[in-house]
Amino acid sequence: MNVAEIPGDAPLICLVIGDPVAHSLSPLLHNRAYQVTGLSSRYTYTAARVRASDLGAAIHAVRTLGVRGLSVTVPHKCAIVPLLDEVSELASRIGAVNTVVNENGKLRGENTDMSGVIVPLRQRVELRGLRVALLGAGGAARAAAFGLVSEGAKLTIFNRTIESAVKLAKECQAEAAELGSNTQLNQFQVVVNATSVGMTPDSSHAPVADSVWSSGQLVFDLVYTPRETRMLRAAQAAGASVIYGEEMFLHQAAKQFEIFTGVPAPIDEMRSCFNSCRRST
Ligand code: ATR
Repeated sequence: MNVAEIPGDAPLICLVIGDPVAHSLSPLLHNRAYQVTGLSSRYTYTAARVRASDLGAAIHAVRTLGVRGLSVTVPHKCAIVPLLDEVSELASRIGAVNTVVNENGKLRGENTDMSGVIVPLRQRVELRGLRVALLGAGGAARAAAFGLVSEGAKLTIFNRTIESAVKLAKECQAEAAELGSNTQLNQFQVVVNATSVGMTPDSSHAPVADSVWSSGQLVFDLVYTPRETRMLRAAQAAGASVIYGEEMFLHQAAKQFEIFTGVPAPIDEMRSCFNSCRRST
């Protein structure tokens, strides 16, 4: 679908909903993408703080106002599922929706977090048959786990609370193990951190010891504040290749842009917008 095919009366407002949402970079990123693809006269993107108790009213407003698309963030990703008309198979397996698109009054939920994890990895390695360790078993880890298994990776899920790792591993047919101070990762070619450990303001922490890394590994930290986490610094010092967390954020946003507009996302411009926003904050 190109701009000319978008009906003149189509709803073209998109927004990110969450609580808090004030510091979200999504409006800057999506509006920049509309500009560079020539869509900014048809689409606009903003942010709305929606409290958990107001989610139903917000969805009603989306229908009434004909909002085109939503990016959905904390704390609504699970609670929004029963309020929609349809949920993609992937999002329902993950149990969370981070994207809603309004197709002629029908609200469909999708999950683009999986693309955010898989696309940057796929650009660097063929995941089929690789031994992959996933750290964490929360919301972000669920999207990563289903994506990694569907790519054919041999997945082990490590989590501080072993019960959550076992539960997720059963759902997506992976192995489970406890994440602790003596966790060793040398048998894994790819490691993805989906815990929140290392995120600002606790940036002196890492989910595993600095000594676990070796050259030849590919290490992806989904944490993107700070850009260079302690975990990535240690991995890089040991000669491993690293992927910064901003790639996850960018690729999930790029996929959302494509769902909302039907136009390929201008990923390089989105990346430079993200980096210049980050430098100015
Ligand atoms: P998100 O939606 O960002 O994934 P989440 O669902 O709250 O957030 O999940 C946070 C993940 O980080 C969980 O896997 C959590 O482990 P537990 O299940 O044991 O809570 C992990 N996590 C958070 N703080 C941690 C810490 N200090 N050490 C190890 N794991 C931690």
